[in-house]
Order: sequence, then structure tokens, then C-alpha cells
Amino acid sequence: MSAGTPLQQQPGFSALQALATRLREASIAHMLASDSERATDFTVQAAGLQLDYSKQMLDREALAALLQLAEESGVPEAITALLNGEPVNNTEGRPALHTLLRATEPGQSRDLYEDVAATRDTMRSIANRLNDGLHTGYSGSAITDVVNIGIGGSDLGPRLATEALKPFHGKVRCHYVANVDPADIENTLADLDPATTLFIVCSKSFRTEETLTNSLTARAWMLDSGASTEDLAQHFLAVTTNLGAAREFGIPADNCLPMWDWVGGRYSVWSAVGLSTAIAVGWDNFDRFLGGARAMDNHFSSSAAPGNMPLLMALLEVWHCNFLGAGNHVVLPYDDSLKQLPDFLQQLTMESNGKAVTRDGQAVQGDTAPVLWGSAGTIGQHSFHQLLHQGTLLCPADFIMPLNSHSQNKAQHRRLVANCLAQSRAMMVGRSLEQSENALLQRGHDEASAKALAPHLVMPGNRPNSVITMHSLTPETLGALLALYEHRTFCSSVLWGINAFDQWGVELGKEIGAEILSRLEGGDGAQMDAATERLMQEWEVAVSRL
Ligand code: F6P
Repeated sequence: MSAGTPLQQQPGFSALQALATRLREASIAHMLASDSERATDFTVQAAGLQLDYSKQMLDREALAALLQLAEESGVPEAITALLNGEPVNNTEGRPALHTLLRATEPGQSRDLYEDVAATRDTMRSIANRLNDGLHTGYSGSAITDVVNIGIGGSDLGPRLATEALKPFHGKVRCHYVANVDPADIENTLADLDPATTLFIVCSKSFRTEETLTNSLTARAWMLDSGASTEDLAQHFLAVTTNLGAAREFGIPADNCLPMWDWVGGRYSVWSAVGLSTAIAVGWDNFDRFLGGARAMDNHFSSSAAPGNMPLLMALLEVWHCNFLGAGNHVVLPYDDSLKQLPDFLQQLTMESNGKAVTRDGQAVQGDTAPVLWGSAGTIGQHSFHQLLHQGTLLCPADFIMPLNSHSQNKAQHRRLVANCLAQSRAMMVGRSLEQSENALLQRGHDEASAKALAPHLVMPGNRPNSVITMHSLTPETLGALLALYEHRTFCSSVLWGINAFDQWGVELGKEIGAEILSRLEGGDGAQMDAATERLMQEWEVAVSRL
């Protein structure tokens, strides 16, 4: 069997189902207590990150069977194909060469690499000029604020990286506008001065409605402030594969940085899509970010399966999703600057692997991409952690925790660490009926009331989770972390037999949206269903009353 074959047809599938049935009845806490090597053996290090998966609902036999499944599914060959630039995106006939964007050697892609290296030079020079105050606006004053206008992969990666690397920021402030809701751009521009603002229109296709609409609003804002159309060249850059459309919009070719069709939007933060981050943190720090991702790439390509962090995480994802019945995955960064991470990972994993057919177009036989969700710890502890601990839904978790904070308030950071470790442990150990009763007695309840209340305090525990740690959040560890999840996403796609690099599912909504907009503007458009027609009429009535 090989890549493209659904998981359920691999020889090891039924043995894994039997193992899952046994392990669902086992105690993770007992497995950890009874095997003195488990905490060490179920931990791997790579590129400055450590993954501790010793609190997973997994034993050595199941781990070996999962590794065997990876072999049967052709994961090692698929990794080689990905990294060698083979057309792994089979429905679009393209490679997926995001690793080339952070490479320092061309490997098998010499021609492409020359373009990548030249683009890095351009990015470096733009970032340096801005940080040195040499890029001036139409009034002659230096640019102080950069606004990235993009959405999806042209927004989430740089937005996350810029926020996560705040301690490394220089003097240029970077802002992000994505939503077509006018409030997004209006709120952002409210505090900015057109004469010192630079826009980066970031759109691989240069066809995305939200981005083009916001860019037109930005241009009008600039012109309304007294800038001439000639002045716009000092205030607009573009990152795109579609130079013609950018030119038509009014951004000259000299102001355009390239993107390539062999990079998926959600894998593109390493390209010129990351320009705003490079400006915010300065080129050297952006280069460190690329270096961290490269270190993870090296680990991914050279580590044998049992120690290969992205592959292990993919096996855990498949184990949870297809054997333990968890249709979701919660990501809990215990670092406030990583609070955008779940949003970024949602696009990465759900746009990549939210697919119902295999690479050759056959229906998949089980579930693919679980719903990914989460928020920064400790915020979630006071909202949805109740469900993590006592709900009926199994929610496997990734806790992500830098061991050190950039803050000097070490005592407060110590509290954050304690909370993270406590939540991870609480998910595993839970609280029994007897422990609950005792706790209530200690709180002064009489026996009858303790007995009656105890079931409400019971926490079943045995909820699988991993803890990813790093010395501190730096450009390198952030790069490694994002590359880790990229490669995990790819390995999961291979195990499911699907193509992680297309996204046909986003198209229909865009087409219907264009038809509805045409109708709302009084133009032609197809008749919609009765419910949509009624809502359109209600909108017309509401707007006509304003
Ligand atoms: O609609 C989905 C999508 O195509 C994403 O895949 C992409 O990241 C986003 O829209 C933005 O696309 P573009 O960079 O072409 O504007």
C-alpha cells in the first residue's frame, strides 16, 4: 500500500482499532506511574522544541503500530517527494515548496531558489530602509506605520509572527487589515497619518474580494488626504503572483514583490508575504525566524520515524481522530503573544486537510482534519476548560509553553507555568468520586451533602494531551514551531491519503457571494432559495430606512 490509499485500507488498521479499544479502558496516569522510562522515552527534541507526549492515551505497542502505519502509508517516501519539489499538489500539478523559502541551498530547485534569494534581498533592503527612516511618504516624512492588507494566508502568518515577536520590534509599527467589514480598516486607519503610512497589498492571486476592497478604501483615504496619484508609489507595495492585476490597480511593477504558485497561501509566511513581519522585527530577526523553520526542516528530513517530531504529532492526530473518536483538537499556548496561534493553525490544518476525497478522487472512509480550536492560557481556563475536564466530548490538547518569559516579572510568569502544568496534569489524573467526597467533607459538608454533591465534582481524567516547550519564544523557536505544525499537517494528509495543498472548497461561497452582491447592487443575478431571497429583501428594507 502507498500514499493515496485510505488509512482504513492499510494492513495495520484493524490491529490499531483493537489497540484503541484496549487503551480507551486503560489509565494514562497508571501507564505513566508504572513505567519509569515513559516520561523520558515519550519525549522528543527538535530545533529548540521539546514534545512531551507521555500523557497521551498510548503505550509502546500502539506507538509501534502507528509507526508501522506511517511506513505502510508511504510517509517516508512522501516526505522525500515534498522536499524534492515533486508535484505533491496533484490536483493542481504543482510542488509545495515552502521549505525552499527558508532554505540556504537550492537543493533540487536551482532556478526557483535564485528568485527566492533575490526576493529575500529585496525584502531585506525594504525592511532596512524603513527601519533606518529612509523610506519617506509624500510629505517627505519617514514612514512610521505599515498596514498589511490581506486575508487568510496573506494575513494570518505575518499577523501571528509580528505579534509573537513583539520583544524584537523596531520602531516601525505594523498593522493588519483582513475583514471586508469596513470597521476593520476604519478602526485601523483612525489612528494613522496617511503621510507616514505604507500599505502592503498582500494577495497571491490579487483577486481576493476582501483585499481588493480594502485596498481601494486605503487608496481613497490616501488621495483624500491630499496625496496625488503619483504619490501613491511611495505608499503602496504589493506581494503577488499576479503582476498584471497589481499594475491595473495602480501599483507599479517596481513596487511588487513576487509570490509563486508553488507556495500555498497558508504556507507563505516565509516568503514576501512575511514582509510586514520582517519590517516589524528587522531583517536579522526575520532571518533567524527562517533559520528556526529550516532547523525543523532538517530534523523532519533526517530523523528516523520514532524520533521525528512532526510525524509523531501527525500519528497522534490520526490516532485521536480515527481510533479514539475525537473530532477536535485544542491548542493552548501558555504565552499571551501566541494567542493568534489557534487562528493560524485553523487555516493551516483545516484548509489543508478538510477534505472528503482521497488524492485520486475516491471518498475517504473515515474522518479527516479534526476541528482545531483554542485560545491563550489562562484565558480558556475560565471559560471552556470546564468542558475539557468534565464534558462528554474528548478534546485532545497541545499545551505550548515557553519556559522563560521576556517579561522581567518572573514571579508572575511562574504562575503561568504553574497553570499550564496543572491543566495538563488535571486532564490526565482527573478526580475520583471518593476524592470528590473527601474534598467536600474537608470543605465542611456533612456526609449526606458530600455524597449528593460528589458526582458533580468528579473529573474523569484520562484526557490525552501533549506539552510542547521551548527555552523561550524567539524568532528561531517560533519558526520551528510553525514549521512543526506545517510538517505535521502534511504527514497527516499522507496518512489520510488526501492532498493538503488545494482548497477547492472555498470557491462556491465566493461565486454565490458575487451573485448576491450583484443583486444587492440592483444588478442581475440568479434567483436564490426562498430563505436567502427573504433575507435579501429584509436587508433592502433595513438599508432603505436609514
Ligand atoms: O479563499 C481562500 C484563500 O484562497 C486562501 O487559501 C488564501 O490564503 C486566501 O484566500 C487569500 O488569498 P490571496 O492571497 O490570493 O488573496
